[in-house]
Amino acid sequence: MKRIITATALSAAAGLVACAMPEPELPTGEALFMQNCASCHGAGGKGDGPMAAGLPRPPADLTRLRASNEPFPAVHVMSYIDGYFRQGDPNQVMPEFSERFTGPTLHVDTGDGILTPTPQPLVALSDYLETLQEG
Ligand code: HEC
Repeated sequence: MKRIITATALSAAAGLVACAMPEPELPTGEALFMQNCASCHGAGGKGDGPMAAGLPRPPADLTRLRASNEPFPAVHVMSYIDGYFRQGDPNQVMPEFSERFTGPTLHVDTGDGILTPTPQPLVALSDYLETLQEG
């Protein structure tokens, strides 16, 4: 995937440098995962977190998101986390994270050549989940 940091993020960083402030540390995908996802999906992403047993549906095994020989489904993963398309589904178990994951935006080429502005935490999480793939 191709990424371009937006002008907003760059100028914000430049502004901070001008004020002699340290650049803000963006949380890593791993940190975001441990804070927001591991309780259900497990520290290793296998769907065996401490909350898993009490849920009406088992959390997905996130080490198997990529079917063999297929590219990692980053767009599916990012929109699932964001939750927009799940809005209003009374049966959904996983929370929508669109409110929580905002902040600097990356322009991501999702495979159709169109650069889509995407919140950095979604990209970081998707990149992290890609490293967990076993399939
Ligand atoms: C409250 C428990 C819970 C939390 C917290 C949670 N999930 Fe889920 N997740 C689920 C369940 C249950 C499913 C199975 C589908 C469903 O019922 O929504 C799922 C499904 C998914 C899927 C779809 C997998 C597929 O095969 O399409 C992805 C991707 C995912 N979760 C990633 C995450 C990430 C990343 C986080 C943290 C930002 C997270 N989840 C936090 C419970 C949770």
